Amino acid sequence: MQESKTRLLILGTGGTIAGRAASRSQGVGYQAGEIGVEMLLDGLPELRSLARGELAMQQLAQVDSKDMSWSVWRGLLQACARALADPRIKGLVITHGTDTLEETAWLLQHVLAVHKPLVLTCAMRPATALLADGPQNLCDAVALAASGGRCGVWVVAASEVHAAQQVQKVHPYRLTALRSFEGGPHAVIEEGAVRWLVPAAESPPAQSLWPKDQAALDYLLSLDDLPWVEVLVSAALARPQALEALIQAGLRGLVLVGTGNATVHQALEPVLQRAREKGLRIRLATRCLEGLPVAQEQPGQAGAEGAELARQPWPQARIALMLELALEDFGRSTDSLHQPA
Ligand code: SIN
Repeated sequence: MQESKTRLLILGTGGTIAGRAASRSQGVGYQAGEIGVEMLLDGLPELRSLARGELAMQQLAQVDSKDMSWSVWRGLLQACARALADPRIKGLVITHGTDTLEETAWLLQHVLAVHKPLVLTCAMRPATALLADGPQNLCDAVALAASGGRCGVWVVAASEVHAAQQVQKVHPYRLTALRSFEGGPHAVIEEGAVRWLVPAAESPPAQSLWPKDQAALDYLLSLDDLPWVEVLVSAALARPQALEALIQAGLRGLVLVGTGNATVHQALEPVLQRAREKGLRIRLATRCLEGLPVAQEQPGQAGAEGAELARQPWPQARIALMLELALEDFGRSTDSLHQPA
C-alpha cells in the first residue's frame, strides 16, 4: 500500500496530560504518566482532520517529567532524529509533563537539525479531570505541527505557542502555567488556526547548535549520561560546604543562580575560585525573574574572573552547559583517535 506523504507522528512520554486521578474533581495529587498516547488519541477523533492526513503514534515513555532521565531523553532524541529524516513525516508532536518541559524542548532544539515543526504539548490537569486542558492542547499542537508553518521546536499550551529557548514554567497550578521569557508567545492558536505574533525573522533558527555530522550525534547517543552539571542558588547566609561536596564528588559544571546581576555571596567565592582553577565550568545566571545578567567588573560577580554569563533562563543554560561539555569530550575523543601512535 502507498504510504501517505502527510503523516504526523505523536510521541508519548507521560506527564499530567496522561495523568489519572482518583476522581474527576481531583486536580492535584494524581499520578502523572498513566494513560497511553493511543487512548488519549482515541478520545479525540477531531485530531484526524486537524492533522490533515494520517496520524502515527508511539509510546516512548510514561514518566512524571520531574523524574526525566537521560535514557528517556536519548530515546526521544533517537525517535525525533529518525522522524526528521523520514520524508513521509511532516511534523511531530510530543506529549510531555510541564515540570521539565523547557529542558526537553531546549535539548531537542539544541541537538537536532529541526527542519519540520516539532511541537511539545502538556497539561496542568490530569486526563481524568472534569475540565481537562490536555485534549485542547493536543488539538492545538497537532494543528501547529500540521500547519506546514515554521520549523523548530515549539511548546503549545493554553492556546499559546512558545519557543524552546524562551519557554518557562512559571506557575504550579493555573492552566496558563507557561510563558515566554522576556516576551510574549510567538503565536496563538484559535479554532485550529495558527496566528503568528512574532515575525518569522525573529523566530528561532531551525539549524541545530550541535555539529551536523552524524559522528557527533552518534557519540552523544552512545553516552550513559550527560556530563554532570548542577544548579546552586546564592542567597543570604550561604555556606560553601554544599559546593565543596559537589566538587569533591566530581562535578564538571555549575550553573550558579546568583543574586541580582549574577552576584555571589562572598562565602562562596574562595571555593569557587579554587574550583575554577581545577577546571569546573561555571555559568552565571540570575535569580531575578526577568532579564539576563549584564557583564560587569564589580567585586561579587564571579563572572568578572572568567565564568561566563548565562544567555538563557537557568534551566536552558544548564542543558547548554551539559551539551557543551559533551561536545568537548567528543572533540577530545576524536583528537585522540587522530594522534600518531
Ligand atoms: C510532569 O511534569 O510530568 C507532571 C506535572 C505536569 O505535567 O504538569
